Amino acid sequence: MAGVNFKNVAKRYGDVSVIEGLNLDVRDHEFMVLVGPSGCGKSTALRMIAGLEELSAGDISIGERVVSTLPPKDRDVAMVFQNYALYPHMTIRENLEFGLRIRKTPQAEMDRLVNEAAEILGITPLLERKPKQLSGGQRQRVAVGRAIVRQPSVFLFDEPLSNLDAKLRVQMRAEIKKLQHRLKTTTVYVTHDQVEAMTMGHRIAVMKDGKIQQLGAPLEVYERPVNVFVAQFIGTPPMNFLKATVSADGRMLEGKGFSLPVPASLAGLTVGRKGQQLVVGLRPEHLVEEGRALRGESAPLTVTVEMIEPLGDQVIAHARLADALLALKLESHRVPEVGAPLSARVELDALHLFDAATEQRL
Ligand SMILES: Nc1ncnc2c1ncn2[C@@H]1O[C@H](COP(=O)(O)OP(=O)(O)OP(=O)(O)O)[C@@H](O)[C@H]1O
Ligand SMILES: [Mg+2]
Repeated sequence: MAGVNFKNVAKRYGDVSVIEGLNLDVRDHEFMVLVGPSGCGKSTALRMIAGLEELSAGDISIGERVVSTLPPKDRDVAMVFQNYALYPHMTIRENLEFGLRIRKTPQAEMDRLVNEAAEILGITPLLERKPKQLSGGQRQRVAVGRAIVRQPSVFLFDEPLSNLDAKLRVQMRAEIKKLQHRLKTTTVYVTHDQVEAMTMGHRIAVMKDGKIQQLGAPLEVYERPVNVFVAQFIGTPPMNFLKATVSADGRMLEGKGFSLPVPASLAGLTVGRKGQQLVVGLRPEHLVEEGRALRGESAPLTVTVEMIEPLGDQVIAHARLADALLALKLESHRVPEVGAPLSARVELDALHLFDAATEQRL
């Protein structure tokens, strides 16, 4: 097995730059997720590893080998696509055997690999069927099986779950994660779904406009987003943002409809920033109803509830504070009244402070 390394990789189509100066080190055995909005260059990056796109600059290595100019078949990777790309006229067994046959794998070895993969994925009873006789989830398993039998150094997944319904997606998410844990094959997984990224990756690379904004373990990224883009992209409901000015003594964050004290834990960040414009980020779980037990310093904030989403275990309330709309995570037995004021509390130690001009974390 082997890691994957991007060194100053760029991709241009004519004058259009899609990826710029991409540096990324995927470790051996790692499950790396590339996540970002549509068009940010995730598939392009993945397809460059596979050899399906040429690089405009830089190099990609797999293990010790620079593979930038090798044809796809010599790169020792297996890719799973969003649309599964199964051969419709072949049985499932033939689909699984296809890549092995091209490599002239002996029949006995081929049988062993196919049966083993089918067993792992629970598709043994389906081996003699054709793809159209399978459900979406079963087809997805076959597509994964085809990657497994190849025993590649690297698995590449491009949004493999986006054609499945919500429940199946959650189930397959867990299966792919367990599979990678079992096989330990280095994996690069592309998705625009931040929940998939958070739950599956050892590390995630959050991308925007062809550049990595932040690379880190999921909780690291969640707890310390480096800029406003990452902060709003990771987490559901998304982080709330308030425009604020640092008070003359540096101890308050003041904005339309609120005035929040800077907690001791963040005082070092605002000192000397008198009058500076900030963006204050506040996750919905840190803006809760008055009376709940809270950690650390907190401050009151009165908002007007505009809409509620009862989820069973909790209630998401969408509420107004002057010209800002905020999401709150409330306990389910305290369903607030729509249109009424709600006394909330802000967990001050959990505030995220960003420079309003650069949108970078302070
Ligand atoms: N052959 C091409 N010619 C010109 N531009 C292209 C070509 N292929 C892709 N692009 C552009 O490159 C950018 C990145 O595309 P890419 O498919 O990598 O995005 P993505 O992050 O995978 O998005 P999605 O989540 O929608 O799949 C897009 O703006 C796309 O329009
Ligand atoms: Mg894509």
